[in-house]
Amino acid sequence: MKPGIRIQIREVAPRDGFQSWPEFIPTAKKLEIVRMLIEAGITEMETTSFVHPKAIPQMRDAAAVMAGVPRNGCVHCPLVPNRKGAELALNSGADKLVVVISATDAHNLANVRRTVAASLHDLQSIFDLARECGKPVMGAIAVAFGCPYQGDVPEDDVYRLADAYVCAGASSLILADTTGMATPTRIVHLLSGFANRFSQIPYSLHLHNNRGTAMANLYAALDLGASTFDTALGGIGGCPNVPHAAGNLATEDVVFMLEDMGYSTGIDLMKLILAARYLESILGKTLPGQVMKSGPRDPKQVEALNALVPLPFCT
Ligand code: COA
Ligand code: ZN
Repeated sequence: MKPGIRIQIREVAPRDGFQSWPEFIPTAKKLEIVRMLIEAGITEMETTSFVHPKAIPQMRDAAAVMAGVPRNGCVHCPLVPNRKGAELALNSGADKLVVVISATDAHNLANVRRTVAASLHDLQSIFDLARECGKPVMGAIAVAFGCPYQGDVPEDDVYRLADAYVCAGASSLILADTTGMATPTRIVHLLSGFANRFSQIPYSLHLHNNRGTAMANLYAALDLGASTFDTALGGIGGCPNVPHAAGNLATEDVVFMLEDMGYSTGIDLMKLILAARYLESILGKTLPGQVMKSGPRDPKQVEALNALVPLPFCT
């Protein structure tokens, strides 16, 4: 048991989850989900992204989403791929930015139509702009554990990108297994090397479940002392530029496991499950999350949950 050790959850469903959903989700529905997440105790969220509407049509209402989100106690961090996105995000009242660059040219070209070097060329101007507005910037490293086009990614390429972010002024980093290619051994290796080089830089681990290893990867990282994770309600999510993309770790699955192990997340599991079931009813498809179906350990709570919101699609 790990009594009281605090784990920070960064909720990414409104960005990573919604971005790949085939039908446009009405802004009002997105805002309802954001509100339910905040009521459940989420304190940091990738709320949307400021990207080209042709590249990601689902995010075309980014400004409207940011205008409508509750501000009470939640840090809203839109994702931005370039300087233009950063300008729009800061104008929308973002609390923090997430800049994304991939560790490989192949994925960066597919995702933002630029080489890594070209993305790095504009990086300082994004950080300068955010600093003028008094807002911190997280540097996200996509495909840090494997690339769907290149395969293995040399760890030095990941550390070089991390170094560029740190030099530009990143407050923290995101190490993303965009493609679900990590295994616990790779997690331990990369995170140990990262801790040796960047001991003062906090990071969040962003794990996808393409190959069923995401929860094992989280457990391996926890053992090493990782304390911040990106997760998505219902386990939705996926990069549109990854073939057969699979979801993120489900927030409610992670909260269930961590709290039962004695960690503290500050999140109300029952409210989270209700939000996940509501999301499933909005999207009209069975979602990958498990705890949203099985419920918590207490049978009375499961009964109460099922009476309140029966599972719409799972049998
Ligand atoms: N948001 C909205 N519009 C943008 C933009 C942004 N972040 N960045 C550029 N644009 C506009 C430019 O103003 C320009 O408009 P104009 O034709 O009216 O002058 C036009 O897009 C082309 O600009 P350019 O810099 O050549 O962009 P591009 O066409 O090469 O596209 C990206 C580059 C990064 C904007 C685009 O690939 C993108 O949005 N990718 C997002 C990928 C993503 O979100 N992946 C999942 C998350 S990791
Ligand atoms: Zn992701």
